Order: sequence, then C-alpha cells, then structure tokens
Amino acid sequence: MATIVVFGGTGYTGGNVVREAASRGHDVTSVSRSEPKQPVAGVRYEVGPVEEVAPRVVPGADVVVAAISPRGDMAGRLVEVYGGLARLSAEAGARYLQVGGFSSLRPAPDQPRFAEAEIPEEFRDEALEGDATRALLVEQAPQELDWVFVSPAGGYGSFAPGEPTGAYRVGGEIALFDAGGGSNISGADFALAIVDEIERPAHHREHIGIAY
Ligand SMILES: NC(=O)c1ccc[n+]([C@@H]2O[C@H](COP(=O)([O-])OP(=O)(O)OC[C@H]3O[C@@H](n4cnc5c(N)ncnc54)[C@H](OP(=O)(O)O)[C@@H]3O)[C@@H](O)[C@H]2O)c1
Repeated sequence: MATIVVFGGTGYTGGNVVREAASRGHDVTSVSRSEPKQPVAGVRYEVGPVEEVAPRVVPGADVVVAAISPRGDMAGRLVEVYGGLARLSAEAGARYLQVGGFSSLRPAPDQPRFAEAEIPEEFRDEALEGDATRALLVEQAPQELDWVFVSPAGGYGSFAPGEPTGAYRVGGEIALFDAGGGSNISGADFALAIVDEIERPAHHREHIGIAY
C-alpha cells in the first residue's frame, strides 16, 4: 500500500486517479480548493490552495500526483506551482507523476512537438503551459526526483469520459494512434494506467503517453 497525494483530486483526471487508487487499498489524500461533490469513501480530502496544503501533506507521501489544470485563475501559474511540488516531493523522497497534455508529444521522431506547431486557438494557451511544465521537469527537476510526465491521448478529457475497458498502451514522447488513426483514452483507463505505474514503477525521469 502506498501513501498517495493527488493535487486536483476532485477534478476529472485527479478524481479518477483518487477512485482507482482508493479502490486498490492505497492511502489516498486529495487536495483541492473546493469540497468534493462526490467524496470517495476512505479518501482524506484536504481543502485549500495547493501552496498552503502541499507543505503539510507532501512530507510523508510515497507518491505525489499533480493533476491541476492551468485554467481560470490558475492560467499562467502552473509552472511556478509545479516547481514547488517537484521540490517538496524531492525533499520528501516521493515519486512525482505530473499530468500534462497531448500537445507535448511529437507526431513522429525528429518532428516538433504538437505544442511547437500550429494548434487551434482554443487549445493554445493550455497546450503551451502544459508543455512548459514538461520543460520544467526535463530542465530543472532536482536530480534526486523520480518524476514521470504523462501525456494523455488527444481525445482525452471531461468532454469524452468514455468507458472503463481495462486496456491502454504506454508510449514514449511519440504519440500513439489506434488503427483508425484516433487518439483516445477514457478517464477510467487513464487512471488505471497511472495507478499501475504507481504500483509497478516502469518509468523514471521520462515523458510517457497513454492511449488505446
Ligand atoms: N487531451 C489532453 O491533452 C488533456 C485533456 C484534459 C486535461 N489535460 C491535462 O490534465 C491535467 C488535469 O486536467 P483536468 O481537466 O483533469 O482538470 P480539472 O478537471 O479542471 O481539475 C482540476 C483540479 O485541480 C484543482 N485545483 C485547481 N486549482 C487549484 C489550486 N490552486 N489548489 C488546489 N487545487 C486546485 C481543482 O479543484 P478546485 O477548483 O476546487 O481547487 C480540481 O480538483 C491538466 O494538466 C490538463 O491540461 C490534458
């Protein structure tokens, strides 16, 4: 059993991770500014801004999952906030899994990341900020930090929750596409992959992508 702290544990990604981890008997703490609408039995809910709660809950964690979105009043703040979480996790000796975006992946080896190419206006800010949080880990993570940066499929998101299937593939920084050329993963299957990576660490200081 691992002690897992999920920042953004009431959101789409974090909520699924919290549910999956709790169902497998892990000791789970969720952090968010609002109370959970549908609390999961056995999960500890810490309510407050990340900077206030993190110094209390990260020491003592085995694993930290960062799943806050750079939206609303968090737009433009994620690099600074995640830098703090990475430092605290390193000090605590906790493994650090940071969820980012599809746009940090590359369509093919030697090609620019999607975030470095033309992206539709409505996704641009979130894509660029997500990729800046990837660069933060690659370029500035404390040497002792065991981090994983996780990009979901392109069609992942609360607008397409999908169904749990029990299946997923894990790739590197080259995007995975299914036989029909699609890039999808349900919320439940993405969380399954995250908790499998927590239970059986297979990637260290690496960028991975999760899709069908
Ligand atoms: N296809 C893709 O590439 C794709 C699609 C979706 C998401 N993503 C990425 O996945 C990550 C998570 O996104 P999501 O859609 O799952 O997020 P979300 O549903 O918007 O959830 C965000 C969570 O963070 C919490 N939060 C926000 N600001 C906070 C703060 N200052 N202190 C503490 N908690 C805070 C929110 O609760 P409160 O507001 O109550 O604090 C909520 O629990 C993001 O990096 C996003 O870019 C990628």
